Amino acid sequence: MNNIIQKLLSFAILLGSVFIVNLGFATQDNAEYVQPYLVVGDNQYILRAVTNLPKCPTVQWDAQKAEEMKVRVAGAKIPLRKKSDVIESDFPVLTCEMVWPKDAKEGKVNNQVFKRPASEIKKIIVIGDTGCRLKGAENFYQDCNDQSKWPFAEVMTNAAAKNPDLVIHVGDLHYRESPCPDNLPGCKGSPWGYGYDTWKADFFVPAKPLLEKAAWVFVRGNHETCSRAGQGWHRFIDTHSWDEKRSCNDHSNDVIGDYSEPFSVPLGKSAQFIVFDSAKNANKKITEKDESFLIYVNQFKTIEKIALNKKFNIFGSHHPLNIVLPSKKKDSESEYQLYPTGFTNILAGLNGEELLKSPINFTIHGHNHIFEAITYDINRPAEIVTGNSGSSLEEINNVEIKLSDVQKKLLKIKEFSSYQDFGFGTLERQDEMGEKWLFTEFDVNGKALLKCDVSDRTVICK
Ligand SMILES: [Fe+2]
Repeated sequence: MNNIIQKLLSFAILLGSVFIVNLGFATQDNAEYVQPYLVVGDNQYILRAVTNLPKCPTVQWDAQKAEEMKVRVAGAKIPLRKKSDVIESDFPVLTCEMVWPKDAKEGKVNNQVFKRPASEIKKIIVIGDTGCRLKGAENFYQDCNDQSKWPFAEVMTNAAAKNPDLVIHVGDLHYRESPCPDNLPGCKGSPWGYGYDTWKADFFVPAKPLLEKAAWVFVRGNHETCSRAGQGWHRFIDTHSWDEKRSCNDHSNDVIGDYSEPFSVPLGKSAQFIVFDSAKNANKKITEKDESFLIYVNQFKTIEKIALNKKFNIFGSHHPLNIVLPSKKKDSESEYQLYPTGFTNILAGLNGEELLKSPINFTIHGHNHIFEAITYDINRPAEIVTGNSGSSLEEINNVEIKLSDVQKKLLKIKEFSSYQDFGFGTLERQDEMGEKWLFTEFDVNGKALLKCDVSDRTVICK
């Protein structure tokens, strides 16, 4: 009898705890929510807010009267883009925005004060590839519920503590594309698909400490194409004015929504960061037959013109121009190879082995979930890859990539460093003009691991 009572009691406790957990989720989802953030676009700062309230919040610019932010796009449940899609994207939130007035020093939204970014940018946080990877097609499920396995929130807290002027995210914000199987406690309960609940879990909640600290420059990744998380990209992140045709909501307009014009972000008198949207880049060589070929050729020509405006240019694209990885061919003469991306041959066609003409001095990327710093033995911009800020790491069987002198010679590399665990970087200006920078690579706790001097076409790490 006692045994039956005990079993009944434990069943009641179990029921109760399930109820409390569900209640917890319900309360959280229904709670009033206003998340302000500041994005950097082409020659403008845009204050944004995502909210589940019926009205946009107000902004108070300096001591002026508060004014209501404009609705960028109202909440909506978007019908399936294609019959083969499995889940509708539900966005039960308003995206609100207001362009930063030229003379305003600060903007206050929901008691959160944002300062106008300094005209001379001195410290930049650099992160990439941050979401929690749930991908049924590859039977890959990252433990989103375990901070040691998906450390993005920790990275954000420790990056915010560095007090940056600016944040650069090199793309791939959204990773939860498939439901977590019931038997996996590591990701149990995770939202999935391309709607707001997933954007909230993969980005807005963990990024909150840094979203409220500095202005963000976003570089679009392949996870943000129209056929993946493009709808959220255009609602929340893209800095062009809202355009239903670019929204990725209607599949027949993808050729518009999948691309955006390059633009630059001034870092001071002589330096700038050039943003290139390579979302539609394929890992295989892009040829003239591909839709993106001409679009990218024209954009690279625009980028060359933009670069002429400043002496020191940092080019940012999600996909690295080249990445060092262990050779996929077993009979290769080198243990490692320098792998190009789809658009590298377009650049080679335009500029030969230099890839990006001077005055483009340095490039920053993500996509590969690793940190690498490469200086070439030929005239070509030096490169940093920093795609290790949260999503599951590059699978290279725990081999530490170290290039011998012979391998460096084979790959035309002069200097090379890598770090194969989670982390983030800071890029700090070292001179008045912004032609010398220090890139520091940190572990998730914010401990400095590598210090890399960046100057014209050179990055040397110690
Ligand atoms: Fe990527």
